[in-house]
Amino acid sequence: MTPLGLARARPGPPFTVTVDGDETDALPGQTVAAVLWSAGITSWRSTRGSGAPRGIFCGIGVCFDCLVTVNDRPNQRACLVPATPGDAIRTQEGTGHDELG
Ligand code: FES
Repeated sequence: MTPLGLARARPGPPFTVTVDGDETDALPGQTVAAVLWSAGITSWRSTRGSGAPRGIFCGIGVCFDCLVTVNDRPNQRACLVPATPGDAIRTQEGTGHDELG
């Protein structure tokens, strides 16, 4: 049984987002972090100093470990941002501001 079945959830129809350019399905109500996890991605950021991998830690918007770039906006907390149709999600390194110069 899937988690959706266990919860007897009946989400609306899936929609598509991209993760580093690759299309993946998302469900209404999922956060960006949930979409990434559903796609099998558990790490999507590296730290500034050591480059250590990061993903979800607290899951409630406190630790900032889950930072990700969504629609060209860096440093969004994936555990808090709801996924919306067409979102362009990008993994990021360091501060996420490298491309801003
Ligand atoms: S996992 Fe801690 S802020 Fe998102």
